[in-house]
Amino acid sequence: MNPLKHVAIIMDGNGRWGLKHYKSRNKGHRAGLKTIEKIIKISIKKKIKYLTLFAFSTENWKRPKSEIKYLFKLLETFLTNKINEFNKENIKLTVIGEKKFPRKINSLLKKSEKLTKNNNKLQINLALNYGSRKEIVNTIKSLNRKNIKINEKNINNHLYTSNMPDPDLLIRTGNTNRLSNFLLWQLSYSEIFFSRKFWPEFTETDYLKIINKFKIIKRNFGEIS
Ligand code: FPP
Repeated sequence: MNPLKHVAIIMDGNGRWGLKHYKSRNKGHRAGLKTIEKIIKISIKKKIKYLTLFAFSTENWKRPKSEIKYLFKLLETFLTNKINEFNKENIKLTVIGEKKFPRKINSLLKKSEKLTKNNNKLQINLALNYGSRKEIVNTIKSLNRKNIKINEKNINNHLYTSNMPDPDLLIRTGNTNRLSNFLLWQLSYSEIFFSRKFWPEFTETDYLKIINKFKIIKRNFGEIS
């Protein structure tokens, strides 16, 4: 059985789900939060140590202002309501991506990271204003600045994900089969599962089925066996 320490998820399909059911993309985003809560619970049950969620990409700034505003309002309400509960459950919250948000959001994110920094049951990496190419370029620039040799180990040690294992498993919902500039370096050997369901309709059972399939995959990491 394969060990499962790190799961990464591209939570796609909120907009289409919201339009289909309520003629509102934003309602889809709101419903997407419920799925996040369910997935966190199962992740803890399954003793997963890292859960990386793609919540807002560097490309998402191209969306209408009203949708962006709504997403950040949701994030604000979610964190304000949930961070103490996360803390009690020994969950550590970190943000990966450039923290260039409105001041209120930035300080809420920093406060949440600080509050939960010593927790160690599950680490949730919220990818916000995250783009993988940018992460890699910034990493190489920073190595150059510090006069550190460019090699795989040093690049690994300077990515946002420096002190965690690479994702064992990537899940993308929303019936779209691409990586969309998410963790391009870190996903090199990850097992990838695409779900046809939109994120708000992705259930605990869907997640558990993928985990069970993952557990019995023969992982070679490039070797012959
Ligand atoms: C992708 O669906 C989803 C997002 C861009 C946002 C994910 C956000 C949440 C799950 C809600 C919580 C919000 C934050 C910021 C933590 P999409 O809008 O691309 O869906 P579509 O492909 O159907 O248009």
